[in-house]
Amino acid sequence: MERTLIIVKPDGVQRGLTGEIIRRFEQRGLRIVGMKFMQVDRALAEAHYAVHREKAFFAGLVEYIISGPVVVMALEGTNAVAAARATIGSTKPHESAPGSIRGDLGIEIGRNLVHGSDSVENGEKEIALWFKDGELVSGWTRSTDKWIFENV
Ligand code: RTP
Ligand code: MG
Repeated sequence: MERTLIIVKPDGVQRGLTGEIIRRFEQRGLRIVGMKFMQVDRALAEAHYAVHREKAFFAGLVEYIISGPVVVMALEGTNAVAAARATIGSTKPHESAPGSIRGDLGIEIGRNLVHGSDSVENGEKEIALWFKDGELVSGWTRSTDKWIFENV
């Protein structure tokens, strides 16, 4: 199963959209293997967004992610990375398709509500960065899995 790291960013938490955002991933069929509510520190924010370190928006991005608590999730499923990215919508909410989280709930790039890993490799790396082994529930199944995943 592919795994992806999802973060409900501080604007999502502050706006009371945590449940709405989690609902969309759950209903898509992704299986939760980890979830926690936390205040991100600067070191973790900088590590998570290290690929953007040289960008002009990096400092503002780090301030945004540490500006309030977040909900972090590890989700799994077939095609979990691409499915979650499609559910999230494109980076700029004003260009995101209606029906996506950003397209329905957001309007500015610096307040785009949610993070999702952009590749299978980064999904694994990000889950290892954000979760300790003991915080993940791996290998559990749902009675509905066979109605969501064809080959289980
Ligand atoms: P994310 O990593 O948060 O899931 O978002 P993404 O893949 O859609 O976008 P990415 O290119 O990875 O950018 C990470 C976050 O940086 C902020 N950003 N601001 N002002 C700007 O030009 C700009 N570009 C990116 C956004 O919060 C974006 O989600
Ligand atoms: Mg990204």
